Amino acid sequence: MARLVRAEATGPIRIDPQEKPVFICACGLTGNPPFCDGSHKHCRDEQPGTLYRYDPESKQVIESRPDAGSSA
Ligand code: FES
Repeated sequence: MARLVRAEATGPIRIDPQEKPVFICACGLTGNPPFCDGSHKHCRDEQPGTLYRYDPESKQVIESRPDAGSSA
């Protein structure tokens, strides 16, 4: 079974109640779920109204196209 997951965040979710802050991945690119590993830097140049597909190993964009489901 395979699944495509739509993620629109370009950075982590910070959780502060612990002694040190914890950063949870919200971009979907992390190699260490659920924690942010810095892979969100690959999302920096995304443009509104465009759908991106990333290679899970290299984290490079392998496809981009207009996003028909976008609200942008
Ligand atoms: S938010 Fe996904 S790797 Fe940082």
